[in-house]
Amino acid sequence: MTDQDQFKKRAAEKAVEFVETGMVLGLGHGSTVQFALEALAGRLKGGEIKGIVGVPCSQKTEDEARRLGIPLSDLNEHKQLDLTLDGADEVDRQLNLIKGGGGALLREKIVAQASRREIIMVDESKLSDRLGTKHSVPIEIIQFGWQRQVDFVAGLGGKATLRKNSTEPVLSGQSNFILDCDFGPIKDLDKLARALESRSGVVEHGLFLGMATDVIVAGPAAIHHLLAKRK
Ligand code: A5P
Repeated sequence: MTDQDQFKKRAAEKAVEFVETGMVLGLGHGSTVQFALEALAGRLKGGEIKGIVGVPCSQKTEDEARRLGIPLSDLNEHKQLDLTLDGADEVDRQLNLIKGGGGALLREKIVAQASRREIIMVDESKLSDRLGTKHSVPIEIIQFGWQRQVDFVAGLGGKATLRKNSTEPVLSGQSNFILDCDFGPIKDLDKLARALESRSGVVEHGLFLGMATDVIVAGPAAIHHLLAKRK
């Protein structure tokens, strides 16, 4: 396991400590979530917690949760989730996030919006003073006329690249395309988010602003628990 994977694992194990008996959980997507699923299954098997149910954000997470014996449900059954465990690609000091490196941003945002508490688990390499410095912003778009969305992103000052799996476009869980958009360090996150949200054909973007309540960060020296300041 790489050092980065060790830190992801530690962050995930710390986050899973916040899970209590009977909770309805959002289960995100990605390699850090995988560590969280394993830790969660361990606590269930050991009898430390029981009666939990998870709402998965991707087919991969659903398959893994089933394999590990974690009971599952969906958002139609549960109006509100107690806690969501998810990863992120970049995290700023205000706990704003870039997500969607794994392509599950739409479901992740829907689940985050339904959650009382959104705990993000990262290794310290994901921390950044300004979002966009380390990671591009994934944008999920419909397939129709997708090249015009590339032009739209250029008009906003970004460089959009269609996400591909060798030669074929990668499809999201909803069979949409994903554009990875390099804006460089982003000066005005709200302005960019609003511009993307007002564009027809853009289904969702990977800027998660004011959504994380907690971020668990693991590095070589320590694990830190960061809490969002609420207005
Ligand atoms: C999935 O769509 C993403 O939002 C992930 O949460 C993000 O890419 C982090 O992934 P890792 O945990 O694999 O680093």
